[in-house]
Amino acid sequence: METLRREDLDSDFWEALVEARKAAGSAYAPYSSFAVGACLVTEEGDLIPGCNVENASYSLTVCAERAALCAAVCKGYRAFRALVLYVDRPSPVSPCGACRQSLFEFAPDLVLFLACRGDMVRRVLLSDLLPLAFGQDALPPSPVDREEA
Ligand code: THU
Repeated sequence: METLRREDLDSDFWEALVEARKAAGSAYAPYSSFAVGACLVTEEGDLIPGCNVENASYSLTVCAERAALCAAVCKGYRAFRALVLYVDRPSPVSPCGACRQSLFEFAPDLVLFLACRGDMVRRVLLSDLLPLAFGQDALPPSPVDREEA
């Protein structure tokens, strides 16, 4: 993990940080009051934001990272370079286990920028947050693949 100053981010990631901060402003978090914004940077350099969306059942809450991932996949994106995560708090947070696994599906080499109210941004690799990840390589060929082979 590396700590950077915001001004050290290159312009792509700076814009993604602005989008993540904006997304946090749309968070639906009446139960936790913990607003989170995320922004995925696609392989093409496009920016796809997401925010957390809570639910009265609690367990159906969707984190900002997975909201951004679902929005991006729905728009046809399948490969991602980076994700910026923003909380309006004194220190940054890192993605929960479910989000780490969901992001790994599409972007095992993802770079995460963890940002907060202050000037410091943490840079960390998904592969460091999710060592020995379970992925599609572990699965046997699907019946469809077997038929095509
Ligand atoms: N949350 C996120 O959206 N992303 C994270 O990385 C950590 C947690 C949300 C889920 C819930 O709405 C609230 O923050 C408190 O856990």
